[in-house]
Amino acid sequence: MNKALSIIEEDSKYLMQSFSRWYPLVIERAKGSLVYDVEGKEYIDMNAGIGVMALGHGNEKVISAVQEQMSKFFHYSLTDFYYDLAVRVARKLVSMVPFQGKVFYTNSGTESVEASLKIARGHTRRQYVIGFTNSFHGRTFGSMSFTSSKYVQRSMFSPLLPSTLLVPYPDRHNPICRDDCASAILSYLEDWILRKMVDPNDVAGFLLEPIQGEGGIVIPPTEFMQGLEKIARKHGILLILDEVQTGIGRTGRMFAFEHFNVEPDLICLAKALGGGLPLGAVVGRSEVMDLPKGSHANTFGGNPLALAAAEVVLEEVPLLLSRVNERGKIIMDILNSTKSKYIDEVRGKGLMIGVDLRKQDKPFEEGLERVLMNSFTRGVLAIGAGESVVRLLPPLVIEDELASRGSSIIKQEIENL
Ligand SMILES: Cc1ncc(COP(=O)(O)O)c(C=O)c1O
Repeated sequence: MNKALSIIEEDSKYLMQSFSRWYPLVIERAKGSLVYDVEGKEYIDMNAGIGVMALGHGNEKVISAVQEQMSKFFHYSLTDFYYDLAVRVARKLVSMVPFQGKVFYTNSGTESVEASLKIARGHTRRQYVIGFTNSFHGRTFGSMSFTSSKYVQRSMFSPLLPSTLLVPYPDRHNPICRDDCASAILSYLEDWILRKMVDPNDVAGFLLEPIQGEGGIVIPPTEFMQGLEKIARKHGILLILDEVQTGIGRTGRMFAFEHFNVEPDLICLAKALGGGLPLGAVVGRSEVMDLPKGSHANTFGGNPLALAAAEVVLEEVPLLLSRVNERGKIIMDILNSTKSKYIDEVRGKGLMIGVDLRKQDKPFEEGLERVLMNSFTRGVLAIGAGESVVRLLPPLVIEDELASRGSSIIKQEIENL
């Protein structure tokens, strides 16, 4: 048995198998936008550890910042103590958002969403939060109550959080979205939900991804985002944007909300923020970030090693944004040049790109599995999203040559279906 197979066998013996792995990659090491498995085979990374490794693997500046911090201290906890690094990174984050803000650090995306729910309820003293169908916000009880892209993620775990509602996210495949999706959903929300079912004065927040990631790279119309912001402002409802996947340069802007010209009240971050170390954050308007002393905290949030990496990430990513858009265009052009009848749409912003595969107007799940597996066999790593969308989230620093070689292989595998 080769090394990879024996690790996979042991994995099934010792790890709970609740994951959804697409193919048997057993990683040994990675550098830049290349990943090597335990047999020494090289792969082009069009996934970046699910959108985490924005600066690529083994970035020298990240390594030396973390090493330097390691020689000072690993951990002490912001819950009861102070350190300057936490202030520096928070100051930097706040300088990147369009409002006077404050930060709360977490360890993951789901924990950022949980924190945002508590902040929203605590600040407004209202209990309802309205989310959107086909979303992914995480897998703990609060965030899971809004996660709705696959029912396996929630079906066994009820009861979920009460006082939550989901309304449709604008997606052209949603049957209610045939004509004018944005105004249909906005008037449903205003005229049916907030006039008949829930008093808007009981609603703490609207929680949504500005572009759905796990749900299949779904980009809402600008009128929807702006209309939602307007409803939120009218009723004193907070706009909570989950930028765990879209944030930190992924879409060619520092944050995806910038594409829509809206201003959130709370922004949930994680993934790329810590440069590969576990770090999340909620960045919110100062007046909203007012949970009282002792009401929310965590032991590890704002870990110094992760913050040292984040300081480099926040320094470097803004310098990359125009290249992110150029590289995204290279990939989109290649994918758009296929003649495969199974491509319903290639969509994305920056380096968050989805190829929607459909067969006879239905999601082509088996096609997605074949494309991912065959691309893997040919040395390209990508994963799926939604029911049948090839999801591409390469490192933001991916070289043009690797980006075009990787996407050409994926394109060929789609054509081979
Ligand atoms: C938009 C979004 N929110 C939240 C999460 C949950 O993040 P984590 O897996 O770090 O808990 C994810 C993870 O993919 C995500 O894409």
